[in-house]
Amino acid sequence: MVVVDVLRATSAICAAFMNGVDKIIPVGTVEEARAYKQKGFLVAAERDGLVLDFADFGNSPYNFTPERVKGKTIVYSTTNGTQAIQMASSCYKVAIGAFTNLSAVCNWLIHQNRDVIVLCAGWKNRFSLEDTILAGAIVQKLIAHAGFRTECDSALAALDLWSLAEADILTYIDKAAQRSRLRKNGLDDVIEFCHTLDLTNIVPLYSEGTLVAISEPVSVC
Ligand code: MLT
Repeated sequence: MVVVDVLRATSAICAAFMNGVDKIIPVGTVEEARAYKQKGFLVAAERDGLVLDFADFGNSPYNFTPERVKGKTIVYSTTNGTQAIQMASSCYKVAIGAFTNLSAVCNWLIHQNRDVIVLCAGWKNRFSLEDTILAGAIVQKLIAHAGFRTECDSALAALDLWSLAEADILTYIDKAAQRSRLRKNGLDDVIEFCHTLDLTNIVPLYSEGTLVAISEPVSVC
């Protein structure tokens, strides 16, 4: 299973590990995040894009600077991304995917040699373009480089959308609803970062309530 939430949760998780965070504890509810804060944890949390009043910072990948996160454990709660991680938590293995670790996460999937599900976090149980084109990019790499096949219409639709977006991702994504939401809230400085391919070979993995990072060679894809 790969969970994707391009704008911005899984891109932010990858950024945090790129900047040396030790562990991330994803939590579903605001109450859980608040309780961790009261116990003294560093908490990153937002709802509808906006930082929660008790949180140390929000969900921009740029919030997870080395000064803030290196060597630390962070508790993390977001509108959709951490809910999707919770939803996936009983699966065999759960990885975090973003454009920034696309080849690495595909290589990790190839090495698992198992069936793959890409869980798009979307927005409040609705479809999202940015997550779907990333799902399409994953499908394309798995089919092209590793002999995977799919008979799943949603995977094929994602692949079709990715073929429309691939040549100019930023122009394509300009119509996405979450892109407009972030623009409206003045939080859209991360659009280019979140759609940049292969900035890292780190793959965050979920295990027993915590995200930790492994590094995956990226040469296969
Ligand atoms: C989420 O998890 O809902 C999103 O990543 C929200 C956001 O960053 O605006």
